[in-house]
Amino acid sequence: MPVLDLFPDSARIAQGELEVGGLRASELAREFGTPLVVYCEQTLRARARAYRQAAPNALVVFGSKAFPNLAVLELFAEEGIGVDVSTLGELEAARRAGIGGERIVCHGNNKSDEELRAAAEANVLYTVLDAPDEVERAAAAGIKRALIRVAPGIEVNTHEAIQTAHRGSKFGLTPEQTVEAVRLGSSLGMEMAGLHIHLGSQLLDLAAPRMLLDWLAGFVAVCRTELAWAPAVVDVGGGLGIRYTEDEQAPSIADWIGDLENRLERDFATHGLPQPGLIIEPGRSLVAEAGFTLYAVGVVKEPAEGPPWVAIDGGYSDNPRPLFYGARYEALLANRADEPSDRSYTICGKHCDAGDVLVRHIALPAPRRGDLLAVPDTGAYTLSMASNYNLLPRPAAVLVSGGKARLIRRRETLDDLFGLDVP
Ligand code: LLP
Repeated sequence: MPVLDLFPDSARIAQGELEVGGLRASELAREFGTPLVVYCEQTLRARARAYRQAAPNALVVFGSKAFPNLAVLELFAEEGIGVDVSTLGELEAARRAGIGGERIVCHGNNKSDEELRAAAEANVLYTVLDAPDEVERAAAAGIKRALIRVAPGIEVNTHEAIQTAHRGSKFGLTPEQTVEAVRLGSSLGMEMAGLHIHLGSQLLDLAAPRMLLDWLAGFVAVCRTELAWAPAVVDVGGGLGIRYTEDEQAPSIADWIGDLENRLERDFATHGLPQPGLIIEPGRSLVAEAGFTLYAVGVVKEPAEGPPWVAIDGGYSDNPRPLFYGARYEALLANRADEPSDRSYTICGKHCDAGDVLVRHIALPAPRRGDLLAVPDTGAYTLSMASNYNLLPRPAAVLVSGGKARLIRRRETLDDLFGLDVP
C-alpha cells in the first residue's frame, strides 16, 4: 500500500482497513465521529526521542503553534521537551500543561506589554526580542534574559508565506540593529544571552541551514569585535519539513540535527569563537506525521467536465493549508484500503467556497457515501489553524496507543459556537 508510509508509525492495513495504534478507522469513527484528528502516541514519542537523541545537549522546545494541545504538551514534557510560545494563549497552554519557565522560550513579532510582563512573571528561560523597541519595553516589563532574533537575509526554498529570514521579513532585527540591541539590552541590565534565527518552515533540504550557520559564525565574529560579546546560546528555530506526498523527500531528524551541530562546531571553531549552547524549536516535524484526519464521504458526483468530486464532512475550516500554502496531501480510503483504485478524484469540503479543495488528482477505489477517507500528515497546523467558517464545529482529536483511544480535544458543539454571541 504505497501511501501507508505517510501515516503514523503504527499504521497498518488489517483485513482491508486502516489501523493505527491498534484501532481500526471504523471503530474510531464510530466512537468519536468524524471529522476526527487521530494522533499516534508511538509516533509522537519517537519523534521527540529522535530530537533528544540527536541533540542530547541541546534544549528542544516544541513550536507549540503546530498543535498547542495540553495532552501533547504534557507528553512532550515527559520526553524532556519544552515549549516555544508566541502569545498569551500559548504561554497559558504551557502553564496549564505544568511546564516550568525554565523550559519555555517566548516569541512574538509584536509582543504587547502585557505579553512581556507575563513572560517575566512566568520567568521564562528566554524572551526572544523581535524589534528594536522591544529592548527597552522588555527591560521595563522585568525580562531578565533575552535573545535577539536576527534576520540574516537568507531566502529559503519554501512557500513564501512561511519564509521568515529574508531581508524584507517582518521578523527579526537587521544585523546592524542586532548589534545595537545587544548593547542597549546589556546597558539596561538584561542578560543578553544570545541570538535566535528561524529560517522558515517546511524546509526539505540542508542547504539553507548550512548557509545560515556559515553566516552566523561570521556575524558573531563581527559582534565579538564590535561589542566584545559572543552569544552564550544560539537558538536556530524550527523548520525541518516532512513528506506530505509520495514524491517528496525530507531529511531525517538525525541528519538534520547532525548536520546542523557539525556545521555549528566547525564554523565557530574556524572563527576562533567559543561554542554556544544550542536551542532548537521543531514544530511540524514533531507532530505532523503523528496525526491524520478521518472524514466521512458524503456526496460523490460527476461534473460536466473534469474529475468526479468526492465531498467530505469537513473542509478548509479544519485544514486551511491547501488554500493558504498550496499544500498537497495524499489520501486513503480507510475502510477499503486494499481495493485497487479505479480513477482519479478531487476531494472537496462542505464549505460555500469553490476554493474548498483538500486533495486534487487522487486515485481511489470508487468512493461511496459512508466510506471513510483518511488524510495523512495532518498533525501540524491544521486543528491549530481551524476556523468555524459556515458555523462548522471544529473536529475532535484522539490519542491512540495499544488498542486504546483517549480523547485529547472534544468536538465542538453547536452550543460552543454561540458561546460568544450576545443576542
Ligand atoms: N520557531 C519559530 C520562531 C517559529 O515561528 C516556528 C514556526 C517554529 C519555531 C516551528 O517551525 P516548524 O518546525 O514547524 O517549521 N502555518 C504554516 C507554518 C507556520 C510556521 C510558523 N512558525 C503551515 O501550515 O505550513
